[in-house]
Amino acid sequence: MNYRHAFHAGNFADCIKHALLVALLRALAAKPKPFRVLDTHAGIGAYDLSAVPATRTGEWREGIARLAAAADPALADYLGLVRAAGFPARYPGSPAIARALLRPGDALALCELHPEDHATLRAGFRHDPQVAVHRRDAWEAIRALTPFPERRGLVLIDPPFEQEGEFDRLAEAIAALRHRFRAGIVAAWYPVKHRAPVRAFHAALRDRAVPDCLAAELLLREPTDPTRLNGCGLLVANPPFGFAAAVPAILDALLRGLGRGEPGEAAGLARVTAEA
Ligand SMILES: C[S@@+](CC[C@H](N)C(=O)[O-])C[C@H]1O[C@@H](n2cnc3c(N)ncnc32)[C@H](O)[C@@H]1O
Repeated sequence: MNYRHAFHAGNFADCIKHALLVALLRALAAKPKPFRVLDTHAGIGAYDLSAVPATRTGEWREGIARLAAAADPALADYLGLVRAAGFPARYPGSPAIARALLRPGDALALCELHPEDHATLRAGFRHDPQVAVHRRDAWEAIRALTPFPERRGLVLIDPPFEQEGEFDRLAEAIAALRHRFRAGIVAAWYPVKHRAPVRAFHAALRDRAVPDCLAAELLLREPTDPTRLNGCGLLVANPPFGFAAAVPAILDALLRGLGRGEPGEAAGLARVTAEA
C-alpha cells in the first residue's frame, strides 16, 4: 500500500467528492429517521495542511484554497464545514465531513487498511460513541457491514486506484451492494485519466443491471493524457430525492472555482443507468 492521502488532501478531486458528499448527507438528514454512513476507504480523517505531505505537493492550493477564495454561494454549505474544521490550517477528510453532519442517533463506520493511517484515524475518533473505526479490507467490509441496521444510509467507496482492476472491483461492489441493500445510497469516486476506462465502468454497471446510477464528473482538460488526473467523477447509485436537481449548480461552481481555462474543461451530471 503506497498511497497516502495526506499528499492529496484538499486537492481538486477531494473538493468535488466532498462538496457532493455534503449534498448527499444533507438529503439523508432531511428525514428524521436515523441513518448510517460507511466510509470504506477512510484515510486519516482530517489533514494538517502545514505538515510535510501537504506542503510537499501543494495540491490543496489548486483545490480548496481556490474555492475558499472564490467563496461561491453555491458551495457555501461545503465551505462552511471546511472552515469549521479548521481551514486554512486543516482540511477535513470524508470521515470528518460525515461526522459533522451526523445527528444524535446517526452512526458512522470507517474502514482504513493502512496501519499508520488506521492508527491516526482511530485516535481521532477514540471517544466518539457514534463512530466505529475498523482496520479491515474495504471490499470485505462492504459485505460484512451491510445492510445497515437503520435500513437507510450511505456507502462511500473511495479507492486509491493504485491497483489493476479497481474499476471492475468497484462495479462489482456497487452491483452487489445494490442487490443486498436496496434502500442504501452508494457513492463511488473514480479518476478520469482517459475516457475508455470510464466508459467501460459505466457499461459494466449497465451490464450488471444496476438501476438508477448518476455520474457527476468534472474535467480540468480533455482526458487524452492517461498519465495525468485530468478529472474525476462520483458515481451515485440510488440518489436521494433532490440530489439530481442540486448537483448542476454545485458542479458549475466547482468548475468556476477550479477550472484553469484549459481546452476541454467541463462539468456535468449524466444518467448512467435507468431508474428502477
Ligand atoms: C483516496 S484515500 C481516502 C480518502 C478519504 N475517503 C477522504 O475523502 O478523505 C484511500 C484510502 O484507502 C485506503 N485503502 C486502500 N486500500 C484499502 C482497502 N482495500 N481497504 C481499506 N482501505 C484501503 C488507503 O490507505 C487510503 O487511505
